[in-house]
Amino acid sequence: MACPSDHPSHVEIRPARREDAPGIARLYNAGIRERRSTFETRERELGEIEAWIGDPLPLLVASAAGRVVGYARVARYSPRAAYDGVGEHSVYVDVELRGRGIARRLLDAVAATAERQGLHKLCSRIFTDNAPSRRAHLAAGFTEIGVHRRHAQLDGAWKDCVVVERLLGPAAHAGVAATPPDASGSGGAGDPRRRSP
Ligand SMILES: CC(C)(COP(=O)(O)OP(=O)(O)OC[C@H]1O[C@@H](n2cnc3c(N)ncnc32)[C@H](O)[C@@H]1OP(=O)(O)O)[C@@H](O)C(=O)NCCC(=O)NCCS
Repeated sequence: MACPSDHPSHVEIRPARREDAPGIARLYNAGIRERRSTFETRERELGEIEAWIGDPLPLLVASAAGRVVGYARVARYSPRAAYDGVGEHSVYVDVELRGRGIARRLLDAVAATAERQGLHKLCSRIFTDNAPSRRAHLAAGFTEIGVHRRHAQLDGAWKDCVVVERLLGPAAHAGVAATPPDASGSGGAGDPRRRSP
């Protein structure tokens, strides 16, 4: 017989609390050991996860029968002020409860929370061979933008990463005209006015 926590309707999505830190650490460290989702190879100490919970950016958990079975976190994308409205997110779900829509719900909820906090975009990089994550992101309204080829190595092997993003709030509705590179002067590679974005 199925246990109630096996069913997604019994999974609550809510902001993380301090007592969730061990559950979040368990999921992240399991993800690191899986070697399918992150370049990180150093497992995290509990204190490091507790510091995430004090961060103002969104950190949500999926909780079933009092147990943390998933989480989604938004971290700062860049220290540059122009990117203050951009968050870089990650999502992890307990291996026993995958394929039940928990990641999709977490991604939707974390996007809504980020939007309420005034962020205009969430983005992340996913290993191109991480099919479950790509599917979950597409299901949650993210768009695949392009591929960073050989972005870094994991255990000595090059990994390609697909960049995903979801626009939030006014940015999701703003019409932005595409500007050709030469529209306001040369703007070419040799132009001294040219700056990195
Ligand atoms: C990626 C991950 C978070 C997905 O969690 P999940 O709760 O199983 O995902 P969901 O059940 O919400 O699935 C959402 C979609 O992905 C699809 N999907 C889920 N697992 C899949 C799999 N193994 N293969 C193919 N598609 C899969 C679902 O069918 C669903 O698609 P649909 O809505 O079109 O039917 C989970 O596999 C995980 O924790 N992986 C390790 C960590 C990781 O890769 N994190 C992402 C790094 S950014």
